[in-house]
Amino acid sequence: MKLTTLVKSLIRLYLLASFFTLFLVFHFSVISFANNQNSLIDGHSHDEIKRGERFFKGLLPFNFKGQSCVSCHNIMATDTLNWNPSAMAIAVKYSSLDFESFQASIEQPVGNMLSKVHAGINIEEKDLKAVKAYLDNMAMVGPKPVKPSINNILIFLFFGVLITWALLELIFFRKIKYPFIPVVVLLASLGYQGKVINEEAIKLGRSQGYAPDQPIKFSHKIHAGDNKIHCKYCHHTAESSKSAGIPAMNLCMNCHVIVREGSHSGKFEIAKIVDAVENKKPVEWVRLHNLPDHVFFSHAQHVGVAKLDCQKCHGPVEEMNIMRQYSDLSMGWCVNCHRETDVKFKENSYYESYAKMHEEMETGNLKAVKAADIGANECMRCHY
Ligand code: HEC
Ligand code: HEC
Ligand code: HEC
Ligand code: HEC
Ligand code: HEC
Ligand code: HEC
Repeated sequence: MKLTTLVKSLIRLYLLASFFTLFLVFHFSVISFANNQNSLIDGHSHDEIKRGERFFKGLLPFNFKGQSCVSCHNIMATDTLNWNPSAMAIAVKYSSLDFESFQASIEQPVGNMLSKVHAGINIEEKDLKAVKAYLDNMAMVGPKPVKPSINNILIFLFFGVLITWALLELIFFRKIKYPFIPVVVLLASLGYQGKVINEEAIKLGRSQGYAPDQPIKFSHKIHAGDNKIHCKYCHHTAESSKSAGIPAMNLCMNCHVIVREGSHSGKFEIAKIVDAVENKKPVEWVRLHNLPDHVFFSHAQHVGVAKLDCQKCHGPVEEMNIMRQYSDLSMGWCVNCHRETDVKFKENSYYESYAKMHEEMETGNLKAVKAADIGANECMRCHY
């Protein structure tokens, strides 16, 4: 008897849980549905947006040297650096500007790059308006608008009914000769619901918009490599403080007051620097290197005192168009280097307190001192 009450309450619990998740899923679907509707209020009909999208993607009969807008202005994120502005970047820039300025960027292009790439594009105003509508909509809902998933909810509900049936059949009715049938139904339905719940949960924690890798396509190869700008020109606190720091936009302006057009990206990326400075909008670079909070690391110790090259830890940065983390920043990495790397005592006022070692080195008793020998591998040096 006890067993059936337990099973009953389990079923009740399950039903309660499924209705609750159903409610959540429904709730968020309605929100995304409402978001989609909003875009229609903005003066553009759904058909116009759809037409703009088809035009942008080259699905309408329009030929421009065999290319469409999407051949250069990509909609999806790419693995490699695409120097052209993404569709989303254009959409965001022009969402607050009027149709005339949008039209001008295509029909009266300025700058070496733009007048080359857009030369000969000839679009009817009606079509261009549809493209602008499509982009305005994109700026609002992201490149891939979420489809209202009323059907999905019904399917979810249907599997819920199946689960309930299978449970009841297995425990109470036992009418079916082959018990594996309800078992299979049960497992399959649970699997489906689990998948949906998991997907919805992931979506909840994520912003829908398309996030470019970095807000400006800044290339270390062009700056530190091709133009030989010294690392410390931009990361000027590396020598003397814990953090190497990321330069403020004002520093970029030292050069970009004059250099207004790049040979890869045209005016689009550099215009963002000017915009950030003029409107005092800080650029939110995505941080790559991140040690856990319980680890202490100081650039001053390694660059200023130990006289290590940046490349020793960060790799061939001057060859990177897109910055990437080169070392794994594990504890083993730190500790091994401390075991292997000589301390540079010579011409280094920081080490005057190690006078004894100094003397021994001079008399030749001591060949070299590794970082580990002066305590760099003591736990407390690196851990708070
Ligand atoms: C051959 C590649 C190419 C094609 C095709 C192309 N573009 Fe562009 N577009 C670019 C490049 C490169 C830039 C950035 C150039 C610059 O800013 O100097 C740009 C910039 C833009 C800009 C922003 C101008 C600004 O700086 O504010 C808009 C808007 C734009 N394109 C719309 C379109 C539309 C709409 C189409 C399709 C009809 C299209 N482009 C087709 C390459 C292309
Ligand atoms: C013209 C200025 C400039 C120069 C020169 C420069 N950097 Fe940078 N650096 C930046 C900017 C801006 C960022 C942030 C954007 C990014 O990550 O690409 C950055 C990011 C970095 C990062 C990643 C920081 C993080 O964790 O997010 C490292 C490491 C770095 N730079 C190292 C170097 C080294 C090494 C050199 C010399 C070879 C160098 N930089 C030269 C401007 C510069
Ligand atoms: C001994 C290895 C080492 C050397 C040498 C080194 N770095 Fe770093 N760098 C790191 C580590 C580790 C981090 C991550 C720090 C953190 O998360 O707190 C980092 C982070 C950075 C960052 C991100 C912002 C910050 O300060 O946390 C920049 C930028 C940077 N380094 C630039 C440089 C430049 C430029 C040089 C040369 C002048 C240099 N680094 C030399 C190990 C090194
Ligand atoms: C010391 C001078 C100098 C500084 C400082 C500088 N740049 Fe540049 N930048 C250049 C030069 C030179 C070019 C190459 C122009 C070309 O492609 O002909 C360039 C090109 C660019 C380009 C376009 C790349 C291309 O080829 O299309 C971008 C984007 C850019 N810089 C961003 C930045 C940012 C962001 C900063 C500040 C963190 C910065 N720059 C600081 C000199 C500088
Ligand atoms: C490329 C080699 C190298 C790497 C990698 C490296 N270090 Fe060091 N580190 C040194 C050298 C050389 C010294 C000696 C400089 C000195 O006398 O302080 C040192 C010194 C230190 C010191 C100062 C010890 C003292 O004298 O108080 C600390 C703390 C430290 N490192 C932490 C770290 C941490 C944390 C990491 C990893 C995230 C790391 N280091 C990675 C080479 C390295
Ligand atoms: C040279 C610097 C350095 C020294 C010395 C050092 N650690 Fe670490 N330790 C690190 C770094 C960096 C990490 C973070 C590694 C990561 O995130 O993968 C770390 C992580 C850890 C962790 C957490 C492991 C984890 O998975 O998050 C523990 C525990 C730890 N260290 C203990 C110690 C003890 C005990 C000592 C002394 C024997 C010590 N450490 C000495 C740099 C150091």
